[in-house]
Amino acid sequence: MGTIQLRGIGRSFTSTTAVRDITLDIDDGDFLVLLGPSGCGKTTLLRMIAGLLEPTTGRILLDDEDITELPSKKRDLAMVFQSYALYPHLSVRKNLAFPLRVQKLSATEIADRVQDVAASLEIDHLLDRKPKELSGGQRQRVAVGRALVRNPKAFLMDEPLSNLDAKLRTQTRQELTALHRRLGATFVYVTHDQVEAMTMATKIVVLNAGQIEQYGTPEDVYDRPESVFVAGFLGSPAMNLLDAQIVAEDGRVAVTAPNLAGDLWAGTTDPIDVVLGIRPEHLEIATEDGRRGGVRLAVTVDIVENLGGEQILTCTTGSGRVHVRTSRDVRVATGTDLTLRADAEHVHLFERSSGRRLEWVTEPVTRVDRAAEPALVS
Ligand SMILES: Nc1ncnc2c1ncn2[C@@H]1O[C@H](COP(=O)(O)OP(=O)(O)O)[C@@H](O)[C@H]1O
Ligand SMILES: [Mg+2]
Repeated sequence: MGTIQLRGIGRSFTSTTAVRDITLDIDDGDFLVLLGPSGCGKTTLLRMIAGLLEPTTGRILLDDEDITELPSKKRDLAMVFQSYALYPHLSVRKNLAFPLRVQKLSATEIADRVQDVAASLEIDHLLDRKPKELSGGQRQRVAVGRALVRNPKAFLMDEPLSNLDAKLRTQTRQELTALHRRLGATFVYVTHDQVEAMTMATKIVVLNAGQIEQYGTPEDVYDRPESVFVAGFLGSPAMNLLDAQIVAEDGRVAVTAPNLAGDLWAGTTDPIDVVLGIRPEHLEIATEDGRRGGVRLAVTVDIVENLGGEQILTCTTGSGRVHVRTSRDVRVATGTDLTLRADAEHVHLFERSSGRRLEWVTEPVTRVDRAAEPALVS
């Protein structure tokens, strides 16, 4: 078992509050990713769970036992650091054995466990080397191995892949996912990398300025961001965010912005300033015989980037910049004027003042006048 409960956890330093009143249940077997930009409090929160830093407020429970006051080495948790924190003067074998010696296990038991873990991570041929004789990827495995030998209730990892090159990062990411599946253990994993979060997590906590912005599965967080912050943080290129207004006229409710028209119906008749969000993969070039309805946006193509498998169009419109992800079969030249469209179900609305998601109805009660749409340009 490895359930971790955070109850109102906070941490202040003299000049800043790094983590503020976080309450969260981490279930046994979860791969929970703490995701957020640099400085949002990820490391501080993880260090409090590990017992390396005292919280200013709140309690931490491990399998229903209050461990808030328990020293780090008595918590049945293992931490993998960004810097790996291996002992440079010790061999891989001794680095792996170290946590077991602290636990005062017998020499044969230690040797067996070290051998098992080394074999499972395919580092058994490196046991007699020193850390400086290893590649970055091998050091990373030793660091994971040192957490693994202890057979802890949960693994805590702070950006463990950030020192690896891109190719190795992808490979190690897949290895960690496989390791998690194999062990069925609880992982709490810190990263600022949204791809790591999307691919590895069973649950994501998006942190912003020391607070939880959203908690959910990767699908929840990507498909239904609860705030402008989350919408803009996940996705590459990020979600297009345009300032718009919801206006009510003659009993109709429409969303308007420069160069934009659409049959959108928010659950309000008050005029409010909104942010309208559309992911680059949900925009397509509108054609006369193509699909109708949804949102249309008149743009000028500024840049066409060929990514090999697909292309990214960077366009300008009255209300800012817009990225579109398309197949390379779509031939467009820079400088072209186009009309883009997106289905209504792929349009996200946020209240501009609070940044929070707005609920709205996708089926319009009455449709917006066709005449109000920008003319098709193609
Ligand atoms: N020991 C410390 N003393 C003072 N401020 C700190 C300390 N540790 C972290 N902070 C501050 O707390 C905030 C969160 O830091 P951190 O948890 O390291 O963020 P992250 O890991 O998300 O980048 C930052 O503003 C950082 O400067
Ligand atoms: Mg950090």
